[in-house]
Amino acid sequence: MSSRLPGLYRLGVPERRAQVAAARGLSPTAWSELDGGGLSLDAADHMIENVVGTFALPLAIATNFVIDGVDRLVPMAVEEPSIVAAASNAARMARPTGGFLTEATPPVMIGQIQVVQIDDVEAAVRALEGARPELLAAARALVPRLVERGGGPVDLEVRVLAQPGTGPDGGVVVVHLHVDCCDAMGANLVNTLCEGLADRVAELADGDVGLRILSNLTDRRTVRVTCRVSPAELRDASDASIEGAEVAAAIASASRFAEVDPYRAATHNKGIMNGIDAVLVATGQDWRAVEAGAHAFAAISGTYRPLATWRVDADGALRGALALPLAVGTVGGALLAHRGAKLALHLAGVETATDLAAIAGAAGLATNLAALRALATEGIQRGHMALHARKHARGARP
Ligand code: MEV
Repeated sequence: MSSRLPGLYRLGVPERRAQVAAARGLSPTAWSELDGGGLSLDAADHMIENVVGTFALPLAIATNFVIDGVDRLVPMAVEEPSIVAAASNAARMARPTGGFLTEATPPVMIGQIQVVQIDDVEAAVRALEGARPELLAAARALVPRLVERGGGPVDLEVRVLAQPGTGPDGGVVVVHLHVDCCDAMGANLVNTLCEGLADRVAELADGDVGLRILSNLTDRRTVRVTCRVSPAELRDASDASIEGAEVAAAIASASRFAEVDPYRAATHNKGIMNGIDAVLVATGQDWRAVEAGAHAFAAISGTYRPLATWRVDADGALRGALALPLAVGTVGGALLAHRGAKLALHLAGVETATDLAAIAGAAGLATNLAALRALATEGIQRGHMALHARKHARGARP
């Protein structure tokens, strides 16, 4: 299958559907899954409370993506114009140099069990660390089916948050349970595990149970996406005076701006989340969880930083690298009921949660590249015009 579908944007919806169905080997009737926005009123009524209807967004396909050597159609659900075109254009620029390459960690989520009012924090840490094998075995016994699938609790970490006498909660310790969630996003699994272990954890720490809930800063479940773009691809078709090398340098400069200024980094990261969220919404994911994790990760050094950076290589090519936590699932959650989300996963050829994280990450690096290129070329155009005007003014002097 090729994701290169030139002219898709010029077709009407029926012809576009036919072309995408042919590219993915879908039956033309598969589109009926999208009737009513892919979600029946009855299914919606079973999903959340007080339902009065469903609420639609445009679903589109970003083209030209090659991810880890595989052509992918990228489904996007989003209301903002230009995001799908931007992603497709950036993917076309990265395509001749291999597209996007990704690396993902195993899908390990973190559950937090907080214990408060501990009189001897050091003794609590010793007791909890000494009981690591017992606690992990107890945790595994709570999720036998996940363990059978090759996942389950894999590690346990103890962190001290407060010493006794320093605040109203007394001595505070938090146990992090690391859980390989396989193809599930894992929120329910992790929360169940935290609740199941909390009493024993508090007993070992000799304190009171506090909160028991997953952390959305899923920094054990990250994806890294890179791409390399040759300067020739960056040239502005509408302005022959702009050289690709000039655009590459301006994109690297825009990256440096985001690296030193959180005000710019927030907007830079918004451009990344434009692509990521659109894929997450289309595929029925908890995009709020990913947003929370992404921004916490961006600030993990103590300063809010860009999630993706761009550099010009010695050979003149522009290189981009994105890293962020991406907790997504291909089983459970909204996917149980949302036929449109299931179709979107099928369109993208997603088989595992890691596949989906790679695709969402690639979409994020693509929308970031497109935004920076647009901003950079606009700046260059203005610069050229100003230079021209200055030269002209000098030439006009008597
Ligand atoms: C708009 O949705 C996103 C941008 O502001 C991102 C950016 O400035 O990099 C264009």
